[in-house]
Amino acid sequence: MTTAVIIVAAGSGTRLGLNRPKAFIEVAGLTLAQRSVDAVREADPHAQIVLVVPAGQSPLPAGVTVVTGGATRHESVAAGLSALNTDVDTLLVHDAARALASANLFTRVVEHVHATGAGVVPSLPVSDAIKRVDVHGAVTESVDRSVLAAVQTPQGFPRADLEAAYASVRADDHNDDAAVFIASGRTVHTIPGEANAFKITTLSDLERAQALLVPVNRGHRIGSGTDVHAFGSRRGLWLAGLQWPEELELAGHSDGDSASHAVVDALLSAASLGDIGGMVGTDDPKFAGAHGEVFIREAVARLRAAGYEPVNVTVQILGNRPKLAPRREEAQQLLSEWVGAPVSVSATTTDGLGLMGEGKGIAATATALIRPVD
Ligand code: CTP
Ligand code: MG
Repeated sequence: MTTAVIIVAAGSGTRLGLNRPKAFIEVAGLTLAQRSVDAVREADPHAQIVLVVPAGQSPLPAGVTVVTGGATRHESVAAGLSALNTDVDTLLVHDAARALASANLFTRVVEHVHATGAGVVPSLPVSDAIKRVDVHGAVTESVDRSVLAAVQTPQGFPRADLEAAYASVRADDHNDDAAVFIASGRTVHTIPGEANAFKITTLSDLERAQALLVPVNRGHRIGSGTDVHAFGSRRGLWLAGLQWPEELELAGHSDGDSASHAVVDALLSAASLGDIGGMVGTDDPKFAGAHGEVFIREAVARLRAAGYEPVNVTVQILGNRPKLAPRREEAQQLLSEWVGAPVSVSATTTDGLGLMGEGKGIAATATALIRPVD
């Protein structure tokens, strides 16, 4: 048994209103077309995938048969039919717009086509009350929803039967493949559809897809930290984990590395673990003259003991000197290694204002994001 899936992706997405073909809009980093391709591959790595696209579309997913679509969905499906491999016996047609249809849905449709030899459409019961309305919007009649179903794609058929159906019906009378199939006198069954296989038509549909795909940052917390030290009289500054031999050192507890200390405070405050002053017993020999690494690793260990791990940290240094840019990368790598998550380092002067502007010392502020350990 060989399966092909025609993914129709040649529509313009007028109702979405983004001025780009809908199937090539990205949701959570992947285009709608790519998501459909991925679901088919997961369901059946050997299936032929025919992707029907607007003229001139690029880039395109790899490893698929690409065909240019027509002015209507019907024409686009017909274009896809012309590109099938000869050995295909089971054919599915899928709207790229239903980008969240699962691999399992594709598998179930194929199985049902094999089992019945009929056409198969996924469907959901209609939950809204349904009314017939006239051209003015006045309700003329209530419709019994128990006899209605909302149908989705992928729709599956024996290949030869769908080809025969398309060859025998008028192009403009049918809104989906099941309609074409039925108009040619053939049978279509329903199987349970998926709520997530909804058609992305409007911006709110796109937002719904986004919300389903991007996991909520459950349990994440942020913290902030600030540290300020005045310059001392000797050279040999420690800042952002690095030594700067030509620069004046910072006075204060340990090595005075205000950037590292701000990172520690940000991490600790994110988990409500107090601050560096509470962590470092003033007479604890472990911390006498210690450098940033000791404090940062201790803070991360306390974070983990409390059930959290860092996601990322930013630290900004405020001062006239030293120039950070030439060593930014070095500093970021070192701090990231100690934190165990990306640390970005930036710097600014204070336009000559305040203690930093007067060149009396260096301040740093940091922000940390943490999450519960799995
Ligand atoms: N489609 C197609 N060729 C067309 C029209 C539609 O391949 N000429 C595809 C769309 O890409 C979509 C599916 O058919 O995957 C369902 O169509 P629809 O949701 O209406 O998409 P669009 O036609 O792109 O959107 P709109 O009607 O808002 O312009
Ligand atoms: Mg359309």
